[in-house]
Amino acid sequence: SKNIQNICCIGAGYVGGPTCAVIAYKCPDIQVNVVDLSQERINAWNSDNIPIYEPGLSEIVMERRGKNLHFSTKIDECIEKADIIFISVNTPTKTYGVGLGRAPDLTYVESAARTISKVAKTSKIIVEKSTVPVKAAESIINMLKSNQKPDVEFQVLSNPEFLAEGTAISDLLNPDRILIGGEDTDKGQWAIEQLSKVYQHWVDRSIIITTNTWSSELSKLAANAMLAQRISSINSISAICESSGADIQHVSKAIGADSRIGSKFLQASVGFGGSCFQKDINNLIYLCENLNLKEVADYWSQVILINDYQKKRFVNKIIKSLFNTCTNKKIAIFGFAFKKNTGDTRESASIHICKYLLDEGANLNILDPKVDYDQMMFELSNPQLNLPIDVIKNKVQLFSDDVIEACRNSHALVVCTEWDNFKSYDYEKIYEVMQKPAHIFDGRLILDHERLMSYGFHVEAIGKRLNHD
Ligand code: NAD
Ligand code: UDX
Repeated sequence: SKNIQNICCIGAGYVGGPTCAVIAYKCPDIQVNVVDLSQERINAWNSDNIPIYEPGLSEIVMERRGKNLHFSTKIDECIEKADIIFISVNTPTKTYGVGLGRAPDLTYVESAARTISKVAKTSKIIVEKSTVPVKAAESIINMLKSNQKPDVEFQVLSNPEFLAEGTAISDLLNPDRILIGGEDTDKGQWAIEQLSKVYQHWVDRSIIITTNTWSSELSKLAANAMLAQRISSINSISAICESSGADIQHVSKAIGADSRIGSKFLQASVGFGGSCFQKDINNLIYLCENLNLKEVADYWSQVILINDYQKKRFVNKIIKSLFNTCTNKKIAIFGFAFKKNTGDTRESASIHICKYLLDEGANLNILDPKVDYDQMMFELSNPQLNLPIDVIKNKVQLFSDDVIEACRNSHALVVCTEWDNFKSYDYEKIYEVMQKPAHIFDGRLILDHERLMSYGFHVEAIGKRLNHD
């Protein structure tokens, strides 16, 4: 059969955009069309100012755009031309109905599948890239039947994405593995080989893992749950450190030196954020509940409970140090993105820290190099936070780089995101412009605490007790 010549990706988001940019970059013989319902997002992809910040992404897009990488809203046309169709639409946690707060909302996946079945006049390989519940491939096959033409066949593959934001391009260029799940039939195996050949333009066959669709779908949920579990585990130990005098950085190092455990993903923090971990663990919990595996569901629920506890614990520490009152005190918040090197704020721990401090009556100066004002307002006005709109408008200001102005007259500065440039600020100068006593709360363990204390700061950090005289 002929080689894959044309790929269509439905959904031009954090996954669809970078993934397709790298495919286009590595497969000059393949035309890649990324389509989306949002004209605004597509316009941004076609502009000088692409809608997602990822180190290295802009360069690749500029190199391939207009050659074999195209962004458009011509969804039907691009589906029709494609040999392979990636579904990379969002699958947020349901905010209504059955499975509320747990199950992923498959509305967007279903609408993509229905569009494919309505439009496709030739057979297609459909790839679920979005993170979906186990057995979603089966549902997608049924959705595809809605308008399926005679002689048109669909093969549905599961090909979860493991990229992390902030390192998406290097993760895509050098993946640990590629996972492809398909049907255990000749046609299923053929489809797996077709997709595999696309990746083999730059990835060695030996790291392409093929399984049945269910194993592939479950592996994605389990991988994210286990990564998040490591963070909650180390964060739970950080609470012990603060009460006992042990130092979490020393403990992490000692634990991680065991090659069976490994050193990555053991950084204590103010709590994990991002659009994936909490959503995917909830997805797993919902699956367990449906399978009547209550003990298993409870086990994974605890990962989220510890994460919530960590955020709350950190804020309580701040309030206590500020003599139990934040009312009308100015607090500088360093970082609003959920991690460094991204402008993404979804489920960022910083949002919750800000929410609790606003509840206490604080005024916030938020400093983040990549988050814009509208995005910040969008997050803080989320109805679930229950913050009055006038409070947000009057009590919150955003700064992108003027750290001195962000800190002027503030009582405390709170590190929520581990941006590298936060490390190199002139903290002696910052100390001068702050109210005294000047407090620093390091929720990311990125600052030089001894040095800060020598300037006169009162310093508190996750997972350690610092000496104050
Ligand atoms: P996103 O919200 O950034 O992008 C999704 C895009 O799909 C949006 O632009 C939306 O307009 C578009 N869309 C929705 N329905 C559509 C339709 N019917 N037709 C055309 N376009 C449509 O989401 P994301 O962060 O890219 O995540 C996508 C999926 O990938 C999710 O299932 C997520 O769990 C998974 N995932 C995300 C990451 C990550 O780091 N963000 C990593 C791995 C997996
Ligand atoms: C995650 C997975 O890593 C990725 O494989 C999957 O495809 C999508 O979900 P992402 O959420 O983009 O990626 O970033 P990640 O690096 O995993 O960080 C998630 C959160 O955990 C961030 O808030 C980060 O700051 C926090 N974190 C990470 C810690 O608090 N400590 C750590 O040691 C590592």
